[in-house]
Formats: sequence, C-alpha cells, structure tokens
Amino acid sequence: MPKIPAHIAFIMDGNGRWAQRQQLPRKVGHRVGGENAIRMIKACCKRGVKILTLFAFSSENWNRPKQEVTEILHILRTLFDREVQQIHALNICMRVIGDLSHLPSALYTKIKEIECLTRDKTGLILVIAIGYGGQWDILQAVQALAQQVSQGLLRAEDITHERFSQQLQLLDLPAPDLCIRTGGEYRISNFLLWHLAYSELYFTSILWPDFNDLALDEAITAYTARDRRFGTLHEITA
Ligand code: IPE
Ligand code: IPE
Ligand code: MG
Repeated sequence: MPKIPAHIAFIMDGNGRWAQRQQLPRKVGHRVGGENAIRMIKACCKRGVKILTLFAFSSENWNRPKQEVTEILHILRTLFDREVQQIHALNICMRVIGDLSHLPSALYTKIKEIECLTRDKTGLILVIAIGYGGQWDILQAVQALAQQVSQGLLRAEDITHERFSQQLQLLDLPAPDLCIRTGGEYRISNFLLWHLAYSELYFTSILWPDFNDLALDEAITAYTARDRRFGTLHEITA
C-alpha cells in the first residue's frame, strides 16, 4: 500500500487546449474540467487524502478575455449549486481561498453558504483557490501583521514563522505534500508560493479533463518513491 499524501494540491491546467484539440470552444474544456474536478474530489476521498486543494482560477486569470472569465465563473457557480448536497453528504468541509472581492455576488454568496454549511464536517478538507495568487496571499498577510504592529498589538520581532503562516489563506492547514500540475507546463504560476517550499512537485502532460484515477495513482506512486529530506541528511546518516 503506497503511503497516501495527506495534502494534495492540483494546478488544474489544460482545459482550453483540451477543447481546442477537438475544435470545441474553450468553455467546453472548462465545463468538462469542472466535472473532472468533482471526479477527483471523490477519488481523493476514496484514497484517504485528508486535504485537497484545487487551483481553479488565479489572480492573473482575471486578465483573460472578459467572455472567458464570465464563462469560468458561471461554470463554478453552476457546479457549486449542483454539488452542494453531495459535498455535504460526503462529509466534506469546503473552504475557498483567494481575493473574492471581485466575484459576482451570486457566486460569492453561494461560496459563503457552502462554507457555512460544511464548516463542522469531519471528512476531506476541500480548499478551492479562486482569484488566488501566492504573491497576493503573502502581501495580505504582511499588511495584516503590519497593521497589528502599527496599532501596538504586536512587536515586529514576534512575527514568527508560525504567526506569519497563520495569516495566510490556508490558515493552520499543513502545506501540500504533493502538488500535481497537469497540462505540460513546468511552473507554479503564482500558486501557493509560501507553502510549496518543500512540497513534492509532479508534472504531467495529461490535460486536466483527461486526468483520471489511474493518473492519480501514478502520481501517488511517484510521490511514494520520493525521498523527502527537508534539507537534512537523514536518509544518508540513518
Ligand atoms: C486551466 O485551463 C483553467 C484555468 C486557468 C482557469 P486553461 O484555461 O489554462 O487551459 P490551457 O492551459 O489554455 O489549455
Ligand atoms: C494556472 O494555469 C492557473 C490555474 C490552473 C487556475 P494558467 O493557465 O493560468 O497558467 P499559465 O498562464 O500557463 O502560467
Ligand atoms: Mg493554462
């Protein structure tokens, strides 16, 4: 039995190319990609993953053509509307991270409703990153702490690693053990910059809508074979 990573993060890339290859509009790729996210949530539940973080829409994705942005946000709302009961039934606790201030109000309200409804659930912790950027996350943490310092509530020297981490959007959640990026690019694209410091990175050319259970098991098996040293020499000296 391979050791299952407790926290898996996905950069779900390749929806547009998946659609274009079939001469379909990009929005179809986003729709099928959304359905695949639901499948992968269930697959991760089944495998005993404790935390699943999905990068759904980045802070830079706002710079795409307005029509595509609207379509992606519409697909997200439709999925949340449709899946809320199932998320609840699967004992999932759902949280959304990112700058939600620019979201359409119906999507924002839905997100808050699901977060509230599933707050006390004890199964998979599902984190969805929407309007999220790692640099934004670090900046908002710095601003919050700087404000506390300027109000005399905190001394600069008391800004520890732990206190800083807790100001980030993931709050007290542990960093991803494994970060999987589909779609063939070898970059982080402003995802969880602070937290990925020691995550195992796995890149696959499979486009997100095609990423399936078998591909997930391959990624987990690859993770199992990694030697996580965290800068130490424990494997050599053991
Ligand atoms: C990922 O698919 C989804 C989002 C970034 C919102 P893309 O839309 O980036 O698909 P490609 O990379 O163009 O194929
Ligand atoms: C990363 O994909 C963001 C998400 C998957 C939500 P992008 O398609 O936006 O990344 P780049 O532009 O290739 O770096
Ligand atoms: Mg892309």
